[in-house]
Amino acid sequence: MKLQGTMQINDKGHLEIGGCDTVELAENFGTPLYVLDEQYFRQNCRRYYRAFTEKYDGVVLYAAKTLLTLAVCRMVDEEGLSLDVVSGGELYTAKKARFPMERVYFHGNNKSAAELKLALDYKVGRVMVDNPHELQMLDRLAGEAGVQAKIMLRLTPGVEAHTHEYIKTGQIDSKFGMVIENGQAMEIIKRALALEHIRLTGLHCHIGSQIFELQSYAHAAEVMLGFAAEVRRETGWQPEEMNFGGGMGIYYTAADEPQSVSKFADTLAQAVKNLAPQYGLAAPKVLVEPGRSVSGPAGTTLYTVGAVKNIPGIRTYVAVDGGMGDNPRPALYQSRYEALLANRAAQQPQEMVSIAGKCCESGDMLIWDIDLPAPAPGDILAVSSTGAYNYSMSMNYNRLPRPAMVLVKDGAADIIVARETYDDLIRNDVVPERFNEGRVAKIAGAGR
Ligand code: LLP
Repeated sequence: MKLQGTMQINDKGHLEIGGCDTVELAENFGTPLYVLDEQYFRQNCRRYYRAFTEKYDGVVLYAAKTLLTLAVCRMVDEEGLSLDVVSGGELYTAKKARFPMERVYFHGNNKSAAELKLALDYKVGRVMVDNPHELQMLDRLAGEAGVQAKIMLRLTPGVEAHTHEYIKTGQIDSKFGMVIENGQAMEIIKRALALEHIRLTGLHCHIGSQIFELQSYAHAAEVMLGFAAEVRRETGWQPEEMNFGGGMGIYYTAADEPQSVSKFADTLAQAVKNLAPQYGLAAPKVLVEPGRSVSGPAGTTLYTVGAVKNIPGIRTYVAVDGGMGDNPRPALYQSRYEALLANRAAQQPQEMVSIAGKCCESGDMLIWDIDLPAPAPGDILAVSSTGAYNYSMSMNYNRLPRPAMVLVKDGAADIIVARETYDDLIRNDVVPERFNEGRVAKIAGAGR
């Protein structure tokens, strides 16, 4: 496993993150445990902030969908980033963390009237409008509230990013945004410009996720600016800001070769700067929405090894006390991860094993074929790069409580998400009153 952020191996031969011995973390907080490296998370925020604001007129939005808790919101705010939220729940979290609402951008392909009302009520910075239905609804709600809603429109530029099929959203056949090529994008822009309670500030696109090919962004800039020039010719309006979404790829395994954030900024923002005058446009502000590349590498999950099952001549299954409940990505996307034994981090690998989760499902495998020093019950397994889309996509399948999360820095560990209890699992369950009245038996009997 590649050591990232503040990871190191201490003199006990244990994995250390943020100056904390992960074996002690497992003892003190239990497993599975999400560990978030504060210094690394903040450093990732800073890299983006610097790359897009020092040389360029840029704005960096952290994509909350990758990992959002109250403490995470506070760090994002302190590091000067804005926030991309995609639901009433994420919006509510930001509000409760006292995140400045003018720096919140509200995304989503099917926002409800209640969510849009909440956004207007909180006075979010921008609503990222996806479709004509939403545009109409927002205009009406803004009118009722006596305000003008600032919006950006999400478009589908038809740019293909080289990444996994399931997480490609820039292609034309997509549930997100309005297609440029078939005229629908032009149509919604004209509509937005005509509405009284809407002020259109810019255009948005997102070309995919876990992208390593920076030229995809330069290509997106070309398509978007070319289209903006057309819009200007037809309507006289031009975007003050252009948002190119997120997508920068991170290191999960040796197969991944991430690009630096400064290279990303230099490719994208420079392309916008160069192309704008060529298309007769004033250079718009460049917005980006990184998520995975901020939170992903800063997260590690700790598990305790349980049963180790060897099927001679076939494989050795090493079962851990979590799995698809806390990390559904391998089951959903065949994602690959690296791991090591945190309590024997300095030992050389001895055998090839596969890491199984504890859900009642054959597909609940965290890692196929990984070389480790012969894992035994009680060992602590650390899986790296789990900061993005793990906790945020976690679930209670099989009624497994969700893990706790600790924030580690300079030898201190603070709980930022408490471990779920069995009581949390039944908190919303309701038994109909009639079940207590002896009527159930009668109803069941009547059908016979
Ligand atoms: N902006 C928009 C409009 C997005 O749709 C996304 C991600 C982002 C920003 C952040 O992209 P990032 O920098 O994190 O790549 N659950 C999948 C990934 C889904 C991506 C959804 N959109 C996974 O676990 O790989």
